[in-house]
Amino acid sequence: MRFAVVSQLISVALAARPYINEPDTGLETYLRSTNYTDGERPLLKDMRGIPDFEFAARQVMTDQQYAFYRTAAAGEWAYRHNLEVWKNVRVRPHQLVGVSGLNKTMGVTILGHNFSAPFFISPATRAAYGDPERAELNFVDASANENILYVAAMYASKTIEEIAAQKHNNTPNGPQVVFQQLYSNANLSVTWDIIKRAEAANAKALVWTIDAPSDSTRHRAARYDTANANGVTSDLTWDLYDQMKARTKLPIILKGVATVEDALKAVEKGVEGIWLSNHGARQVDYSPSPLEVAYEIRRNAPEVFEKTEVLADSGVRYGSDIVKLLALGVKAVGMGRPFMFSNIYGVEGPTKLIQLMKNELLHDAAQIGIADLHNIPSKVLNTRALERDVYLMDN
Ligand SMILES: Cc1cc2nc3c(=O)[nH]c(=O)nc-3n(C[C@H](O)[C@H](O)[C@H](O)COP(=O)(O)O)c2cc1C
Ligand SMILES: *[C@@H]1O[C@H](CO)[C@@H](O)[C@H](O)[C@H]1NC(C)=O
Ligand SMILES: *[C@@H]1O[C@H](CO)[C@@H](O)[C@H](O)[C@H]1NC(C)=O
Ligand SMILES: *[C@@H]1O[C@H](CO)[C@@H](O)[C@H](O)[C@H]1NC(C)=O
Ligand SMILES: *[C@@H]1O[C@H](CO)[C@@H](O)[C@H](O)[C@H]1NC(C)=O
Repeated sequence: MRFAVVSQLISVALAARPYINEPDTGLETYLRSTNYTDGERPLLKDMRGIPDFEFAARQVMTDQQYAFYRTAAAGEWAYRHNLEVWKNVRVRPHQLVGVSGLNKTMGVTILGHNFSAPFFISPATRAAYGDPERAELNFVDASANENILYVAAMYASKTIEEIAAQKHNNTPNGPQVVFQQLYSNANLSVTWDIIKRAEAANAKALVWTIDAPSDSTRHRAARYDTANANGVTSDLTWDLYDQMKARTKLPIILKGVATVEDALKAVEKGVEGIWLSNHGARQVDYSPSPLEVAYEIRRNAPEVFEKTEVLADSGVRYGSDIVKLLALGVKAVGMGRPFMFSNIYGVEGPTKLIQLMKNELLHDAAQIGIADLHNIPSKVLNTRALERDVYLMDN
């Protein structure tokens, strides 16, 4: 009888287990103890972790704007998976490892450009929803001040030229480095024109988004009739890659690589960089998390990590998420939504986010017993749960 009651309670609790988009780390409880009222922008000082910015943005953005940032494909199962999959890799903290030099290893070199940390701002459209006046200019300033990479989106609220004009001449590594994301267009002269503008703006690399062969199914955003930003796409093919390559001297990074086969093809083609991503789960439901893609590559073709530069994003919210991707061989990791949400604070928002993440990354890596972020021993990860599901190519 007693057992029955208990097991009933357990099943109720399990059934009610909410899907956790904004984990409860006490933000709302804390705010109730202040004079905060719902619908206000919380004080920036009360942002203690990356997910806090989503709560803050949800208070002040319109439903339509929030839906556009937050939306993902279809039932958003891949979106949830992006956030939850990290649990499949437990960390194995090794103690009594001297980590006092860790801070000096946080810098990273991406395509020859040095930055202060192995994470960056992913390209996302319509930053004006967060800050109508300054939009992406906040990302330019924050990434310059904190010396990290910014990847500007082709469909940004500001033009390529406005973003370029905002770049800082003096960062600790010289003039600010920005990469330019682009979608290809069925009318190729539009694509060639974007490439010309990116070159004129002194972008240091082109990021071609290859996971957008069509519009995508996004129920949450469709309710507000919010069009996809993907534009009109041509056939996305390796032939188009060759044509692009023939038109520009800039390195090209392929954004949206989701399988080891495509990673190997990119290596065969001599592609300078690949970006493991499911576009924040906005393109197709049940697409894999970059954690799984990185593991698939590590298990089938680990040489990929040596032969091309591997970036990743989708679902990264904590320092330990970054540690896991770096440990698998990824060079640097992006965040999309968190930066967009942080923009409701103007330049202070993304700046605080970067500072929070730098601290988390250092704390988490130190706690795990990592002395050098460039040489993370594989023994710090327990990947058994990924091994269960990993795709293995035929030998
Ligand atoms: C509002 C929004 C707009 C985006 N627009 C683009 C885009 O124009 N081009 C692109 O390659 N990726 C775009 N992305 C995807 C991001 O570059 C990135 O892959 C994704 O946000 C990472 O997942 P995360 O939001 O969980 O960090 C967008 C993402 C969001 C949230
Ligand atoms: C709340 O507001 C009142 C009145 O303005 C003020 O006296 C009090 O110090 C505030 N409390 C906090 C925690 O800020
Ligand atoms: C890491 O080093 C930088 C510069 O050397 C310093 O500003 C920062 O406070 C250090 N961070 C930690 C957590 O020690
Ligand atoms: C970039 O960093 C590397 C490794 O720390 C260093 O050897 C190199 O001199 C740096 N390059 C520039 C341009 O600062
Ligand atoms: C293709 O785009 C160019 C602008 O870059 C435009 O002038 C031209 O009319 C377009 N062609 C078609 C068929 O739409």
